[in-house]
Parts: sequence; C-alpha cells; structure tokens
Amino acid sequence: MSRYWSAVVHGLTPYVPGEQPKLANLVKLNTNENPYGPSPKVLDAVRAEAADTLRLYPDPGSDRLRAGIAAYHGVAADQVFVGNGSDEVLAHAFMALLKHGQPILFPDISYSFYPVYCGLYEIAYRQIPLTDTFEIRIDDYLAPNGGVIFPNPNAPTGRLLPLSEIERLLAGNPDSVVVIDEAYIDFGGESAVRLVARYPQLLVVRTLSKSHALAGLRVGYAIGQTHLIEALNRVKDSFNSYPLDRFAQAGALASMEDHAYFESICAKVVATRTRLVAGMEALGFQVLPSAANFIFARHPAQDGAALAAALRERSIIVRHFRNPTRIAPFLRITIGTDSQCDALLVALKAIVNC
Ligand SMILES: Cc1ncc(COP(=O)(O)O)c(C=O)c1O
Repeated sequence: MSRYWSAVVHGLTPYVPGEQPKLANLVKLNTNENPYGPSPKVLDAVRAEAADTLRLYPDPGSDRLRAGIAAYHGVAADQVFVGNGSDEVLAHAFMALLKHGQPILFPDISYSFYPVYCGLYEIAYRQIPLTDTFEIRIDDYLAPNGGVIFPNPNAPTGRLLPLSEIERLLAGNPDSVVVIDEAYIDFGGESAVRLVARYPQLLVVRTLSKSHALAGLRVGYAIGQTHLIEALNRVKDSFNSYPLDRFAQAGALASMEDHAYFESICAKVVATRTRLVAGMEALGFQVLPSAANFIFARHPAQDGAALAAALRERSIIVRHFRNPTRIAPFLRITIGTDSQCDALLVALKAIVNC
C-alpha cells in the first residue's frame, strides 16, 4: 500500500501465475506447458532474427504472421489479431468488446484471470456455477448479458463442450460478444473458428503456448469478423503498437507453418493423457474427462493440499486451488512425458498407500 498508488491499483487483486521454480530436476506439472520442445524450424527462425536488424522496430502489424495464421485457419488476414500471449489478447478483448453496461458472464470455476481483467477495467461480472459434474450448461448463459467468455475445453476442469453447444450459445445470444478461449482446443476439441463466418459476435482466442510448445515466446491470437478485430487493434494501438518482437513474429510464423510437427506432439500428449488417466484411476482417483493437456483429479480419501505437498516433497509440482472450496480436493496435473507421468504414478502410489 502506498499513498502514491492510484485508486484502481488499491482495488486490484492481481492474478497469481503458477510457480516457475528455479530448482533443476523437478518434475514440473503445474503450468500446462508442453513437455516437448518447439519445432526445430522455430529455433532456426528465431536464431536468424539475432541480427543487426534488431536495431529496427518490428512490424507493428505482424503482417506475415497474421497471414500465416489466416492461411492455417482458412480465414482472411484482417480477421486475425495477434498479441503478446493470449493473456494480452484477452485483456484487450475485455477492454474493447466486453465492457458494456450489463455484467458479463463466465463460469464460477474457470480461468482465474477473467475476474482480474474485470477488476482492472472495472467491468461488472456474474459467475455462473458449473453443474455438479463440473460442466458448463449453455442454458444458463441465455440470459441478458454484457458478453460471455469461457475456455473450451474449460480450465482447470478440462471438460469440453461440443461445437453444437457453442453454436446454440451463439444463436441464443446475438446481441453481445461471445469469446471462446481455445487455449487447449488442439488436445482434443473442435475449434469454433469455423463458426466465425456466420456469427458476427464470435471471437475465438488461441495461444501458441500449449500445443505449439512456445509458452516462452509469448504469442497468442484471436480470430473474428473484421469489426471485432478493428476494436482490438484500436485498443492495441492505444497501449503498445509493438506487442510482438522480431523473435516472436518469426518463431510463431515458423510454428504455424510446421503444423505436422505441432500436431505430432499434441498426439503424444493425448496418448500419455490416456495412460495417465488409466494409471490414476487404478489408484482410486476420480479424474474428470479431459480434452486438454492436463487432468483434474481427486482422491476420495485424500486432502488436495496435502497431496500436492506430499508430491512436492518428492520433487513433483502440480497445481492446487484452494478456492472455490468445491475444487479444493482436486489437483490439476499437466500431462508431461511418459517418464514424468510414470514418476508421478510411482509417487502417488506411495502416498496413497501409506
Ligand atoms: C484458459 C487459458 N487461457 C489463456 C491462457 C494464457 O495463455 P498465454 O498467455 O500463455 O497465451 C491460459 C494459460 O494458462 C489459460 O489457461
């Protein structure tokens, strides 16, 4: 607290990112990073940018990258907006498209950055409870609102909605913006990008942090009709005209172009997820169905916080949320390599059986 702070800073409750421990030799399953490295073509492209041209500003419009993203998704380049991680894209979407008179709607158990953006931009919101089985019920969102946002698959539950349900939401909610945050969609869901042409209020937000194994490069993007993209550009150019540096633009483009590579690492993660779920169920865990690169699991006889602490003692880090209390028994576990998941299963077996 300081008397030099503005009133809005006094009122902020900032987001707390998952820990990035400095220790080596940890099995790090706490922030949904990809256990595999990015495409070698990404590394070549980034290295090529380490040149004299770094004295020049990067392209403020990231035109080549946007063209590459557009080509991958079969949309026009002016339907693509890029930002410094999807967190920045989301922040601009809150400011540009979700700040209206009425409260916006999102699930009570969801990405915990959404209420933080609402605090920053002074946006009213209403959190809609997930069902008892941790599902988003679309009927609950067919009420007057200033906008709707949720991840699909949802985080931290991993539960997926079929595209038909997203479409039902759009059809029943024509007057406010619907943001579908597809951070994890490449691990098992169908993207809503193909609905963009038909729904002028749909913005799909995606990231290269998870499926492209590029969390360290900080690149996210949004796809929507041009009037939505223009709103995002107006906010961006009132904030930071150069959100993506030269490394990020070149590396992200190389990654979008090498889709065979990122699809192959996604397939490995999905195969490991199937193995891990089976192994955990054999130990008595209840695991929610996941379409993401993480699972959300609880053990009927164990306390969530105690389990996370016992894993940490064995150098395995997972994510535990104390709030809301309904999810306090659960652990959110990132899918690692097969050997990391084997180490996790060995540790869980020792903890659960003692
Ligand atoms: C649901 C969801 N959306 C967005 C993000 C932000 O991803 P990034 O800023 O790395 O693109 C995350 C990161 O964990 C997430 O879980």
